[in-house]
Amino acid sequence: MRERSPVVHDARSGMWMVFDYPGVQRVLSDWKGFSSQRGRPRGGDAEHALSSSIISTDPPRHRQLRALVEQAFTPRQVRALEPRIAELVDELLTPVEKKGTMDFVLDFASPLPVIVIAEILGIPASDRDAFKRWSDAVVTGDRSGSREMGAYFGELVERRRHAPGDDLISGLIEAQVEGEQLNVQELLGFCMLLLVAGNETTTNLLANTLLCWQDAPEAHEVVLADRGLLPNSIEESLRFRPPVQSMFRTAAQDVELGGQVIPGGAPVLAWIGAANRDEAQFEHAAAFDPSRTPNRHLAFGNGIHFCLGAPLARLEASVALGAVLDRLPNLRTVPGTALEPIPSQIVSGVKHLPV
Ligand code: HEM
Repeated sequence: MRERSPVVHDARSGMWMVFDYPGVQRVLSDWKGFSSQRGRPRGGDAEHALSSSIISTDPPRHRQLRALVEQAFTPRQVRALEPRIAELVDELLTPVEKKGTMDFVLDFASPLPVIVIAEILGIPASDRDAFKRWSDAVVTGDRSGSREMGAYFGELVERRRHAPGDDLISGLIEAQVEGEQLNVQELLGFCMLLLVAGNETTTNLLANTLLCWQDAPEAHEVVLADRGLLPNSIEESLRFRPPVQSMFRTAAQDVELGGQVIPGGAPVLAWIGAANRDEAQFEHAAAFDPSRTPNRHLAFGNGIHFCLGAPLARLEASVALGAVLDRLPNLRTVPGTALEPIPSQIVSGVKHLPV
């Protein structure tokens, strides 16, 4: 399919589907041809906040927003989180070591990124349970939960305005580019985006990597014997089982791609999962091979919208999976378990993973 028809019009959904590596790379990075801003569905509170957030904008607005949020989300700030992430991983793994079994998704891979984001945003520990509930609500599109969260963030922003801390929200309130600051709606949109873009994706990266190791036990043995190879294993997991399968754009004008003309205004879906298995780009693309270098997968996107949270996701994955290798070297998925995929065209992962 990818070789014969890299760009296809799906008459049922009306979408243009792009499957090959060069096509997907182009759709993700060519913002003049493929807009992130046009054609975004407008919906309830959460969707509205999201549709005014950075991921749904084109330049010049995108450039301004990105410069603002990058000030509050620098690689140095992310690196400084390492000891705290290690502590959280330890808290989550200690009861599991005693018990001997767990649902890797529910007990470990899902709570970790939510707690990390809550702490980055400066949510007090006492509000963590409510935060987790709202965060699930935002991701599943439950309006009442996301309204509650909107109200909560609104108050938190006000509090931080008067008494700033060293959290991300205070940083975002302070951040300025050419004298411009984020307004409340944009702040709210960014906080919600962090939940939607950062939590389930990181959860799936952790669980998907275990699945990769389960299917390629020799790769698991190699990384158990040499932890220095863990970053490569994580990159290959991102290529092989990318947590984000596809990204949406709208053709800004008639665009020629893969021998087809996509008409202006048409919805376009760039299939990252298919591009990451393109044989023309990756030798033996159907094999999980952590020794692959370079590994130019598109799991974090490409171009101006390249994932802002990639350093955080990589850090969380290396701390969390490093601890799993050290403390639970015999961890294996329960044989014969039927895995239930998350029902989504966009994210790819499993609902439960008993180990
Ligand atoms: C953008 C994937 C984790 C925040 C993106 C994009 C992808 C992606 C594919 C590009 C979207 C586009 O081109 O339209 C992932 C994956 C993750 C992950 C696979 C985990 C394994 C995170 C985390 C955060 C985050 C942990 C923050 C806490 C963002 C933001 C954007 C983004 C803010 C928008 C950037 C922009 O529009 O300039 N992510 N992400 N992501 N991601 Fe991630």
